[in-house]
Amino acid sequence: MFILRCAEETRAARAAIRRAGQTLALVPTMGALHEGHIALALEGKKHAGHVWLTIFVNPMQFGPHEDFHKYPRPVEDDLARCREAGVDAVFLPEVATMYPPNATEVKIEVPDLAKDLEGPVRPGHFAGVCRVVAKLLALTLPEVAVFGMKDYQQLRIIEAMNVDLMLPTRILPHPIVREADGLAKSSRNRYLSPNERLRALGISRALDACEKLAQSGETSAAVLEDAMVRTLVAHALAIDYATLRDRQTLAPAETLVPGQSVALITARCGTTRLLDNREL
Ligand code: PAF
Repeated sequence: MFILRCAEETRAARAAIRRAGQTLALVPTMGALHEGHIALALEGKKHAGHVWLTIFVNPMQFGPHEDFHKYPRPVEDDLARCREAGVDAVFLPEVATMYPPNATEVKIEVPDLAKDLEGPVRPGHFAGVCRVVAKLLALTLPEVAVFGMKDYQQLRIIEAMNVDLMLPTRILPHPIVREADGLAKSSRNRYLSPNERLRALGISRALDACEKLAQSGETSAAVLEDAMVRTLVAHALAIDYATLRDRQTLAPAETLVPGQSVALITARCGTTRLLDNREL
C-alpha cells in the first residue's frame, strides 16, 4: 500500500493508473477508521480497479468550539486497517499541503441545502467540507467517490456540489453501517461512557419506531416525529432535531411520501452529538 503525502506524487500516481487504463475509487475520511469506513473502501473496490482512502482532519470544517484538536488521530491503526482491507493507497496530507499558507481562500457553498439542520448549529462547517472534498476530487479525479449515508445532509450537499462544478466523478452513497445492537458506527462513539453508550441506542430505536409506524400506514409527519421524540426522551437524550424531510431538497415534509422521505435525528448524549437517519 502506498502512502501519498504531497499533491505532486498523488497526481503522478493518479496519472499512472490512467495510463494503465484503470479506474480509481476515492474514499475521503478524517481517519479514526471503523468498520463503516472500511465498508466504503470495500464498496469502492467493487466499482474501480484501485481504491484510495484519504485521511485528513480538515480544520476548515470545525468551528472554534468544536473538537478539532481533540479529534482522534490513530494514524498507525488506520493504516493497518487500510492495508488489511486491500486499500491501494492512502493520501495523508499535512494541513499545509491542503491549505498552503500563501493560498487565497476559496469558498464553495450550497446554501439551499446547508441553511437548516446541521447548518445553523455548525456555521461554516459545510463550506469547509465542500472546499476539502472539491480539492480532493480535483486532485485525484476518481471515477467514483464513496460517502456514507450517516451524514445525510453532507452527502446531499456533496452531490449537489459535484453536479454544479461539473466534476467527472460519480458520487456513490453507501448505507449506514451499524453495531450489532443498531447504533450507527461513528468515530465519535468512542467518547461515550458505558451508560451513554446504552442511552445512545435510543436514536436507532427512535428511527425503528418511526419506520414501524410508517410501515403500518401512518403518513403524518407530526405523528412520526412525535414517536421519535418520545423514544429519544425515554432514553434521556437531548434532541437537536427529529424530523421528516424530503430526501432531495431536505425541506420539511408534512406528509410521508414513501421512497421520497427521510427521517433525520441529531441528539446529544452527554457532550457527544450523534447523527442518524432512515430513508422511508
Ligand atoms: O465525513 C467526513 O469524514 C468528512 O466530512 C469528509 C467528507 C471526509 C470531509 O472532510
